[in-house]
Amino acid sequence: MSNSQALTTPKKVSTSEVIMTEMVLPQHTNALGSVFGGTVMSWVDIAAATCAMRHSSRQVVTASVDALHFLAPIRLGWIVTIKASINFVGGTSCEVGVKVTSENPISGETFHTASAYLTFVSLDSHNRPTPMPGLILENDEQRRRHSAAEIRRATRLKLKSDLQARKGQS
Ligand SMILES: CC(C)(COP(=O)(O)OP(=O)(O)OC[C@H]1O[C@@H](n2cnc3c(N)ncnc32)[C@H](O)[C@@H]1OP(=O)(O)O)[C@@H](O)C(=O)NCCC(=O)NCCS
Repeated sequence: MSNSQALTTPKKVSTSEVIMTEMVLPQHTNALGSVFGGTVMSWVDIAAATCAMRHSSRQVVTASVDALHFLAPIRLGWIVTIKASINFVGGTSCEVGVKVTSENPISGETFHTASAYLTFVSLDSHNRPTPMPGLILENDEQRRRHSAAEIRRATRLKLKSDLQARKGQS
């Protein structure tokens, strides 16, 4: 297989999945003693970018972040797990889904803390968008996430074109 074929050969979702673990230290917290939102956003971006790079085997850039919802606070000393996997591949871009859970290590309780969807674009050696490998879906959960991502992509692209059209009119 040539190098260029290897860069577009479809890959399984499991090939690029990322599970990242962090412990909440004082430098991660705000005045309330819970994690600063920007810290969680940075962890989400790193986990998702790692996942997109593993899938594309190229450099990637974050094109957009959709719907980052913070559902519950994370306290000092807790353990945070960030899971990222590819939901959908377009032409040169992919959507990565990220789920953040937190764990109180004393009680063992776990909480769904945040979820987000990020779009990454794969870049060639001249930093231009270049095709991503296709995605092999292996189970119903992956097919469900793929269908939902298709809807989000259509919505995202429509919003972008509507905003550009409005900008052109003003
Ligand atoms: C992302 C970027 C490479 C797209 O460049 P572009 O000239 O708009 O590229 P194209 O129009 O050819 O689109 C390339 C792909 O990006 C997708 N895309 C572009 N803008 C997007 C956006 N705002 N949200 C989601 N996807 C987007 C397109 O749908 C296309 O995907 P596809 O090939 O799967 O259909 C460019 O805008 C960029 O470099 N942005 C800065 C990225 C960055 O620095 N991120 C770090 C955080 S600051």
